[in-house]
Amino acid sequence: MKTLTLFAGVAVIAVTSVAFADEAHENKDPSVVARQSHMQLYAHNMGVLGGMAQGKIDYDADAAQSAADNMVALIGMNQMSYWPAGTDNASIEGTKALPSLWEDFDNVMVINANFSAAADTMADVAGTDLESLQGAMQALGGACSACHREYRQRN
Ligand code: HEC
Repeated sequence: MKTLTLFAGVAVIAVTSVAFADEAHENKDPSVVARQSHMQLYAHNMGVLGGMAQGKIDYDADAAQSAADNMVALIGMNQMSYWPAGTDNASIEGTKALPSLWEDFDNVMVINANFSAAADTMADVAGTDLESLQGAMQALGGACSACHREYRQRN
């Protein structure tokens, strides 16, 4: 009986690790998976805000407010463990983070502070009306590009 229980445990572990090793994340450093996933959450919420700003999605005050609040929450998370030294694209496969991101860390922090301020502004106005959301969009989207331009490998 003991052996059976042990095997059952091993089977559960095997299934779990298969579930984690999905195709997109295969062989990737876990910190890279974490930061790319975090970026995808930014992109998802920005898709809602940007879609409304561009008239591709009907403006909905609650949905806009939720997306803006999510942005503030995401930016507020401590992400230091996603960016360990030695995980730049010159050192490992599977990442587009340039080595300069670790060399210019002070500037990255400035970009992040601007990003955070832009998200706060968005959260203040996203639920008010479409014009207010549109007015806050450029600064928020600009913060993504400001960092990508400098620190993400171009396709
Ligand atoms: C402080 C810098 C910085 C900011 C701000 C930033 N990004 Fe990124 N982003 C990066 C870097 C670096 C990568 C490459 C990460 C990697 O491949 O390890 C990246 C990658 C991505 C990716 C690709 C993720 C994947 O699955 O490979 C998306 C999507 C993305 N960012 C969206 C956004 C959006 C949307 C914003 C703004 C709301 C944003 N990012 C803000 C630095 C930043």
